[in-house]
Parts: sequence; C-alpha cells; structure tokens
Amino acid sequence: MIIIKTTEEIEKLRNSNQLVSKTLAEIAKYIEPGVTTEKLDKIAEEFIRDNNAIPGFLNYNGYPKTLCTSVNSQVVHGIPSSYVLKDGDVVSVDCGVILDGFYGDTAYSFEIGEVAEPVRKLLRITKEALYLGVEKAIEGNRIGDIGFAIQQHSENAGYSVVREMVGHGLGRNLHEEPEVPNYGSKGTGVKVKKGMVICIEPMINMGKKQIVQEADGWTIRTSDNMPSAHFELAVAVDNGKPDILSTFSYIEQVLKSK
Ligand code: MF3
Ligand code: CO
Ligand code: CO
Repeated sequence: MIIIKTTEEIEKLRNSNQLVSKTLAEIAKYIEPGVTTEKLDKIAEEFIRDNNAIPGFLNYNGYPKTLCTSVNSQVVHGIPSSYVLKDGDVVSVDCGVILDGFYGDTAYSFEIGEVAEPVRKLLRITKEALYLGVEKAIEGNRIGDIGFAIQQHSENAGYSVVREMVGHGLGRNLHEEPEVPNYGSKGTGVKVKKGMVICIEPMINMGKKQIVQEADGWTIRTSDNMPSAHFELAVAVDNGKPDILSTFSYIEQVLKSK
C-alpha cells in the first residue's frame, strides 16, 4: 500500500530530511584523512540528539549504528568502525533520523583528500543521475521513468546499476511502498502521484553490477572490488516540479569553505 501524505505530513518530512541534510554537513566539517568512521558516527548521533531527534537507523532491524559508512568498493550499509579514512578513499555516508514521528533519509558520497579522476567522475555521474531521476518524480509519470533516467545516464558513462537495492517510499516508516529501482523502462511501473514521498538513491558501480554481502551480515560491496558511489535525496511528488525535501547545499557549502 502506498501512503499518500498530506501537506502537513510533507512539512514534517521536510523537517526530518532537512535535519539529516544538516547532520551530513556537520560530518563534512570533520571528514578528512585520519578520521575513523566510528568518530563520524559519534558526531552524527550527538548532533541528531542535540536537535531533539532520534537516530533512524540505530536498532533498525538490529542495525548497530547511526550512520552507514561505505568505503570504496563498499556499496551501502557499511558499519562505522575503527577504519581510518585515508587519502584517495571515497565514502558514502547515509544517515536517517526520526523527528516528530517521521523519517529523514539522505546520503552523500564524500572524497577523502586527493581522489583519482576516474573515481571523481563516478561520483559526479552518480549525483547527476540522481538529479535526472528526481526530475521525473512528477505527477503523471511512472516509477520506471525515474529508473530509466538514472540507468541511461549511468550506463552511457560505462558504469553499471546495482539491481538488488532500490529506493523506497518514506514516511512514518523508513521503507514504504513503492520500491524505486535505479533501472527500468519508460512508461512502466506504478503511477507517480501527488503526495507520494520517495527516496531516490542510485548505487552505481564503476565495474560490474554484481554485489556480495560481507561477513558482518550488513555491508554490501561490489563483487569485482571496484569502486561504487551512492547519493540519496527524499522527494515529495507534486504537480509540475518535484519538491526535494533533503538538500546537499549545506554539505557543499562546508566542502567549498574547506
Ligand atoms: N539508509 C538505507 C536506505 O537508504 C537503509 C539503511 S537501513 C540500516 O534505505 F539498517 F542499514 F540502517
Ligand atoms: Co539512506
Ligand atoms: Co533510503
């Protein structure tokens, strides 16, 4: 069942996704070679609690941390640890909160120090693909239009789209219907309707699309060990243009000033 949100509910979802966006900007201040992913997790948890919200991933299906930090060939659901980020790494930081009963869920892939140009391009194309997908999240389109736009842009650059993990509806639950695949055909799938709130989150691999799960039972990585990128935004569907509830602007302001 797809839960359509009222204007008031969308404003609450905007607040929770804005808080996640600000939490990721807080992390942007500290993310550099030498910092552990565990330290970033602490910063995020403290920031979320200081803002009277609850970490949304902590204890979700038994997940042990506030963030998912997925480094290099890790795609998603990397668990923050004593791993020390080093020059040339890329790390997807995915964060969730619950504020006033509604979830926020947003992710950004960060470059650590000097990153090789082909990997920087992977990040650039993945973010572009996300925005191309977001543009399709308007009344009258279908879910397949979103996936098609993301897949086309990513594959045109020579990359591959992860199939097993998908975007999703967002509300009082972290994962609601519909599923939002990052691949698909134009004009197929569920109709996109005003009041739907969805997370669009392409996971794009530089090499092959296949993934494997690591022994910790959470971390997903590429089977060929090549790099992967992940960006995520929450979007409310409207007539005309999509209403993006999260933003990367706070993050990118911090990164520019570094
Ligand atoms: N943040 C993921 C998503 O974007 C879900 C993480 S669930 C967790 O859908 F349990 F790993 F935190
Ligand atoms: Co997420
Ligand atoms: Co999500």
